Amino acid sequence: MGSIKMAPSILSADMANLKGDLDKIAGADYVHFDVMDGHFTGNLTFGVDILKAVKRSTDVPVDAHLMVSNPDETVDWYADAGADMITVHYEASTHLHRTLTHLQQRGVKAGVVLNPATPVCVLESIIDVVDMVLLMSVNPGFGGQSFIPGTIAKLHELKAMCERHGVSPLIEVDGGISSKNIAEVVKAGANVLVAGSAVFKSEDPAAEVALLQKLGNEAAQEA
Ligand code: DX5
Ligand code: ZN
Repeated sequence: MGSIKMAPSILSADMANLKGDLDKIAGADYVHFDVMDGHFTGNLTFGVDILKAVKRSTDVPVDAHLMVSNPDETVDWYADAGADMITVHYEASTHLHRTLTHLQQRGVKAGVVLNPATPVCVLESIIDVVDMVLLMSVNPGFGGQSFIPGTIAKLHELKAMCERHGVSPLIEVDGGISSKNIAEVVKAGANVLVAGSAVFKSEDPAAEVALLQKLGNEAAQEA
């Protein structure tokens, strides 16, 4: 297995056939589970019961992306439901350090997410703690949006910050990723790539996951 991880987002899966779609991405590295609360984001998706159903239906680890207004109060719901990794938005967390270390003490990988308009410099005092940083490359809320090009400069900045601190958290990018831009994003420093519509709107999701893994790993070797 290469160093680049693919995390298909089931936001774009067929909710009437979720088990079938999870089987199609059995070769992925994570299932990306987008929780939206209709408050932090202008959209509402799924919560803990669906997360439990996903955990019963696949062995692929679950990466839960909480786009909710109150992550400090609700992360345990998702940890209890079996999430392997949980990311919370910097913009929504009042007690980020406490929330992330609490998850880690529970044995859950913990990460922080930045919206496109939030600068990387806000991570200076938390970068030594996180297991993952997720940079949003679209504004959260919906699948199928276009990749925001400024994400590339933020990736370079984040890599430089990690080097200064001597840490190497996972670096995830979410939104508008496809076979057309995955190489550029990996070369800029990402190693976990979310893809929703590129995977589930394709003819053959399993083949698309394999293609993205291959393109990502080739780009990582060239970087
Ligand atoms: C957006 C979600 C993403 C979304 C990505 O708010 O966090 O995970 O599903 O979808 P695509 O890959 O279609 O941009
Ligand atoms: Zn997401």
